[in-house]
Amino acid sequence: MDRIQIRGGAKLQGVIPVSGAKNAALPLMIASLLTDQTLTLENLPRLADVSQLVRILGNHGVDYSVDGKRLGEEAMAGQTAHLRASAIVDTTAPYDLVSRMRASFWVVAPLLARMGEARVSLPGGCAIGTRPVDLLLMALEKLGAEIAIENGYVVARAPKGLCGGEIVFPKVTVGGTHVAMMAAALAHGSTLISNAAREPEVKDLADCLNKMGARIKGAGSSTIEIVGVARLDGARHRVLPDRIEAGTYATAVAMTGGDILLEGVQPDLFQEALDVLSQAGAHVSSDNRGVRVTRNGSGIAPVDISTAPFPGFPTDLQAQFMALMTRARGVSRITETIFENRFMHVQELARLGARIKLEGDTAIVEGVDRLAGAPVMATDLRASVSLVIAALAAEGETTVNRVYHLDRGFERLEHKLAACGADIERISG
Ligand code: UD1
Repeated sequence: MDRIQIRGGAKLQGVIPVSGAKNAALPLMIASLLTDQTLTLENLPRLADVSQLVRILGNHGVDYSVDGKRLGEEAMAGQTAHLRASAIVDTTAPYDLVSRMRASFWVVAPLLARMGEARVSLPGGCAIGTRPVDLLLMALEKLGAEIAIENGYVVARAPKGLCGGEIVFPKVTVGGTHVAMMAAALAHGSTLISNAAREPEVKDLADCLNKMGARIKGAGSSTIEIVGVARLDGARHRVLPDRIEAGTYATAVAMTGGDILLEGVQPDLFQEALDVLSQAGAHVSSDNRGVRVTRNGSGIAPVDISTAPFPGFPTDLQAQFMALMTRARGVSRITETIFENRFMHVQELARLGARIKLEGDTAIVEGVDRLAGAPVMATDLRASVSLVIAALAAEGETTVNRVYHLDRGFERLEHKLAACGADIERISG
C-alpha cells in the first residue's frame, strides 16, 4: 500500500491548478444513464472514485472513452470523456461495486426513470457515521416509485414511468437533490423540490441536464422546479472546479505561510471558507486567473466555525481547518452539524502533537507552538488530507499510511504540493 512521506517546514509558493470537482463529476457521469446519446464531460478529474464509477456504469452498459492528450496540453489538465449508454443492459448495481463508493447508489434514479426498475445495493463509502438513504427513497416514492428492501438491495419499480410530484426534504441533502432532479427530469408532469441543496454541484448537474434537454429551473436555490420531458439527448459539459480541493490548498498555505495562486477557481464557490481563512490571518484576493492566498509573518488566529450546507462552511473542509487551528494562537471551537462521527482525524492529529478535546459535536482545539512528525493513518478522504496539512507544518518527518483514501478525491496531490516547494513524496508498495 502506498504511503506519503512529508518533511514539514517549507512554505508553499507557486501556482496550483484546481481540478474538476469530484462531487460534480460523479453525478454528471451518472446522468449519462438518462440518455442513449453521448454525454461528453470536459475537465473530468483523474481520481480513483471516477475510475470506480466507470466500472459501475460499465456494468449497466455505458461505453466510456477518454480523448488522448492534445499537443500543448498541460500534464495536469483534466481529461475529456465520452459516456454513452446506448442500451441499459443491467438494472442491478451489485454490492461489490456500490459498497466502495456511496455516490454510486445514485444510479438508482436514472435507471428507474429510464427503465422503470432498478435494483441497487445499499451503499458504503467513507466511514463517517451513519449515512442513510431514506430521503433519497422518499423522493423517489413521491414520484410514484414502489420501493422495497430485499437482501440488502433497494428494489425500485415504476412500471408505467415516474410521475411529477412535490418533494419536501426535511433536511438538506445533496444526494437526495441529485436523485430527485435526475428522476424528475424524465417523469410525466411537473415536480417541485423544496429545501433543495444549494451546493454548486447541484447547479452544475442541473445545467448539464438542461443542456441534455431537461427543463429544470431554480437549481442553486432551495426551490427547484422541473417539468418532465419524454427523452433526453447527449450534451457537452465542463465539470466545475473543485471548491473542496481549492479550499484544502488554501488552508495548506494558511498553515505553512507563503503565496499560492489557485488557478481556475472562483471565490464564490468557497467564499465562506475564504472568509474564515482571512479571519485566521491569511490574505485572500482574486482575479480572472483564480484565487490567491498568502500568509506572511503573522501567526494564525483562532476562529470558531460550524459546518452547514452551502453557502455555509463545508463539512468537507472541517478536518483541514481543524489541522490549521492546531497551530493557532489560542483556542478554537469546531462544530460538525452535518455528519455524526466525522472526527476521526482528531486522534491522528494528536499523534502529531495537537491538543484537541471532543465535546459531543464540537472539537475544542488548543493551538500549540509546534507539531512533530510521526507515522499516522488516513481514515477517510478529508481526514487524510488534514494529516497532510498538519504534516506540512510539523517538524521532522510524517508518514501518512493508507493513502488510497487521498487518491479517491485528490488529483496528483503530492505533485501539486511538491511543485510549490513542499518536501513530499509517495512511496509505493
Ligand atoms: C455529499 C458529498 C459529500 C459531502 C456531503 C455534505 C458527494 C459525492 N458527496 O454527500 O462529500 O460531505 O454531500 O455536503 O457529493 N441524510 C439522511 N438521509 C438521506 C440522505 C442524507 O439522513 O437519505 C443525511 C446524512 O446522513 C447527512 C446529511 O443528510 O447527515 C447530508 O447528507 P448528504 O447531503 O445527502 O450527503 P451526500 O450527498 O451523501
